[in-house]
Amino acid sequence: MGQTVFIPREVDPNEPRVAASPETVKRLVGLGFDVIVEKGAGLGSRIPDQDFAAAGGAIGTAADAKKADVVLKVRRPTEAELKGYKSGAAVIAIMDPYGNDAAVAALARAGVTAFSMEFMPRITRAQSMDVLSSQANLAGYQAVIDAAAEYDRALPMMMTAAGTVPAAKAFIMGVGVAGLQAIATARRLGAIVTATDVRPAVKEQVQSLGAKFLAVEDEEFKAAETAGGYAKEMSKEYQAKQAALTAEHIAKQDIVITTALIPGRPAPRLISAAMVASMKPGSVIVDLAVERGGNVEGAAPGKVVTTENGVKIVGHLNVPGRVAASASLLYAKNLYAFLETMVDKTAKQLSIKRDDELVKATMLTDGGKIVHPNFTKASETPRTEPAAIPATTMVADAVEAKPAVKKKSAAKSKGTA
Ligand code: NAI
Repeated sequence: MGQTVFIPREVDPNEPRVAASPETVKRLVGLGFDVIVEKGAGLGSRIPDQDFAAAGGAIGTAADAKKADVVLKVRRPTEAELKGYKSGAAVIAIMDPYGNDAAVAALARAGVTAFSMEFMPRITRAQSMDVLSSQANLAGYQAVIDAAAEYDRALPMMMTAAGTVPAAKAFIMGVGVAGLQAIATARRLGAIVTATDVRPAVKEQVQSLGAKFLAVEDEEFKAAETAGGYAKEMSKEYQAKQAALTAEHIAKQDIVITTALIPGRPAPRLISAAMVASMKPGSVIVDLAVERGGNVEGAAPGKVVTTENGVKIVGHLNVPGRVAASASLLYAKNLYAFLETMVDKTAKQLSIKRDDELVKATMLTDGGKIVHPNFTKASETPRTEPAAIPATTMVADAVEAKPAVKKKSAAKSKGTA
């Protein structure tokens, strides 16, 4: 009799994703696990129970959680859910622990060994387990789709017998994983794309996707990337220069997508109300950072706001959940790839190696205690930075990269190559 993996239906009504796919259920069975999927768990992601059953899973109820040695989830379990878990069970999810001390304490009290997938180090070995990338990539795609849906004009240039429709101008602010995919998607839809970031490494990536790079490239910019590949919070002076440079540009854009984040800090404010007011009626701004404080003044979490001058500011929550059927497949694979490293394949048993760097980086609670170094002290500690990763891999992932063909030199703004 093997150990049991349980995949519940997410209790948050705004969470359509699921932590397993038929493919990962099949593989879990292959590892020797008994797999139970809660009835209806995949419906929000268009995976019917029978597909899980055909893959070798049993269809169960929420009460089956108590049999589980491993629980795979999208969101951190609630206290009510934890009551149904066996003490000692491994629970793997996006735990969102910062600022949620009571919830982290509840995980410890429940005696579960909880893993926070968003702490996975960004090293080559763990690329297949990187939930931040797999989900941000889809969020970047969906941001463009949402913008296109709100935009009441066509995106590509169309030369027709009845006249010419001009191409839409799209500006992507913040070019990490989400931003790269937003550039690629906007290009595929025929928009004229420009992008900005504070990390110099981004410039080449932007250009290789056929977009134009725009940034204040001063000394501070040259030092803005941390060893982990993330952005630093910029000085007030830099922010003022950046605002001056982008203000004029934003006024001419049809679509702006913002994705800028700084680990452990609130999202930087990149677009002021005055900049929004400078845009043409019918323009669309999508703020992907809205859950972390927002890049755009006037963005409202979970809402599409229309300003007095007719600009729409889109602030959808859980954007990867808006492409749930795709997001779940990738997320499920991320979890499987991690769980597989914790299985003794000969004994067909879970065997958590507590000295493994992936385990050390992600384990939040164990044996009734909070064990993650960022949470053992009660004090606020910024998010651990994942280790550096070769950025080139990401561009390749983002799109079948086409070289920038246009060689127009007349760059009006500083920093354009
Ligand atoms: P993130 O989600 O933390 O931030 C998004 C973007 O916002 C970043 O590019 C950041 O530089 C930018 N930003 C921050 N402040 C800004 C400001 N004031 N103005 C404009 N832009 C601003 O970043 P993400 O997507 O997690 O990527 C972080 C790093 O990790 C990047 O270096 C990326 O290349 C790398 N990475 C590599 C992977 C791989 O090779 N497998 C996987 C994932 C990430």
